[in-house]
Amino acid sequence: MSDLMRFSVIYVFVSFSLTAVSCQDQVTCYIREDVLLPCMSTGADLAVFWRDKNDDNILTIKQSKPDYSSQHEKFKGRVESFPDQYKKGNFSILLKKVQQSDSGSYYCRVPKMKFEQRVQVTVTGERAATSPAPGSSAHITGVTLNSLHLTLISVILFNCCST
Ligand SMILES: *[C@@H]1O[C@H](CO)[C@@H](O)[C@H](O)[C@H]1NC(C)=O
Repeated sequence: MSDLMRFSVIYVFVSFSLTAVSCQDQVTCYIREDVLLPCMSTGADLAVFWRDKNDDNILTIKQSKPDYSSQHEKFKGRVESFPDQYKKGNFSILLKKVQQSDSGSYYCRVPKMKFEQRVQVTVTGERAATSPAPGSSAHITGVTLNSLHLTLISVILFNCCST
């Protein structure tokens, strides 16, 4: 029995860790909230291209400066970049006041490093008035639910196999 317990505890822990990691580039948020689209590359002072699923221009970063000049109009005034983070290879952007139509894939490309990071954004309707505020709580809830799901499956599977 103690072996079984130990196995279960390890399994649950591993499931949780794996789920948390695989969710890194999946962000869920509510309409009108701001969402951080992560992009971590190696190297600083690189040309970086943020594009959406239709290859529309969200932001271009050149010579350590954000260049909004050819930005698609649907992103006008809604994208914030963090130049003080560029030297760390952090090219994350903040997409503000998300709309339902913002759901989908986003790409951060760093051609020189042959690097590409994909972020999947899911916009899930309006936050209920009674819900607590933080923007990241939806993401955390997603992780927790996924982990619970995995935990349930593992418990069920384990019971099946051990009988
Ligand atoms: C990247 O920069 C953003 C904006 O300052 C910050 O919120 C985020 O935590 C940074 N990511 C890392 C991994 O440092």
